Amino acid sequence: MKPIRIWDLPTRLFHWSFAALAVAAYVTAKTGGNAMIYHFWCGYAVFALLLFRLVWGIAGPRYARFSAFLTGPRTFFRTWRARPDSGTDARFAGHTPLGGLSVIAMLLFFGIQVVLGLFSNDDIFNDGPLVKFIDKDTSDMLTGWHLRNHWVLIALVALHVLAIVYYRVARKKDLIRPMILGDKTLATPARPARDDWRVRAGALVLVVLASAVVYRIVHLAPAVAALPSY
Ligand code: HEM
Ligand code: HEM
Repeated sequence: MKPIRIWDLPTRLFHWSFAALAVAAYVTAKTGGNAMIYHFWCGYAVFALLLFRLVWGIAGPRYARFSAFLTGPRTFFRTWRARPDSGTDARFAGHTPLGGLSVIAMLLFFGIQVVLGLFSNDDIFNDGPLVKFIDKDTSDMLTGWHLRNHWVLIALVALHVLAIVYYRVARKKDLIRPMILGDKTLATPARPARDDWRVRAGALVLVVLASAVVYRIVHLAPAVAALPSY
């Protein structure tokens, strides 16, 4: 049994920076006051990472692709019982369909959180950059959802970490090491994920592009009102 590259470097870097920034966004929001500026910054960085991951899920290496772990209901329930993560089904050497579902849920609800944040205000000094496009009542409503949705995020992340601990303790499977170093040792041969310099350079370009998109959105200016014609 030879170690096989499953998680390419960009996916691993995505994971650990995403986790660190999500925690930092939470801590800075709870600190409030002057820390809100860092809350915004963390939120923008999470936004850029999410855009990157969206494209990486379509065009990235084998196991990072959504199509590698998103299945129809039939395969989903069949593999649930078959425990494909035991290393016997090379198709799911990355995320299992159940694990994949939790990945999608996290990406989706973090995406919702960021978009709501852009329209949120704290009634004192801090307006999200898109608040100027909507009225105060709408912003207050979206702020309410931003505050409520953070409980969904806490639940999803808690479930995520508990699942990893469950695998480690009950199933004697270490998922953390492959998310750090990239390789898994499997019972059946699987095709490795591409992780060469081209892949990595492509990811870097994508991250730069994603950051530029976020920058544009954050700096959107209201349309200039048409000048009255005399
Ligand atoms: C990973 C993304 C984000 C997470 C996890 C997150 C989380 C939170 C949390 C937990 C709070 C509530 C703090 C409290 O209990 O008082 C909060 C408040 C807030 N967030 Fe975010 N947030 C994110 C992104 C953003 C973004 C991108 C913006 C805007 C650019 C934003 C703007 C705000 C504002 C204005 C508040 C204050 C709301 C109030 O005090 O009523 N957030 N956020
Ligand atoms: C705020 C905290 C966290 C968030 C938001 C988060 C989010 C995610 C996401 C989105 C993925 C999917 C990766 C991808 O396919 O791109 C993932 C996978 C993973 N995460 Fe986390 N994570 C967090 C904390 C942690 C922690 C603390 C650990 C270690 C104890 C961890 C270990 C893993 C592992 C091992 C995987 C791969 C799971 C598998 O093999 O299917 N994560 N996480």
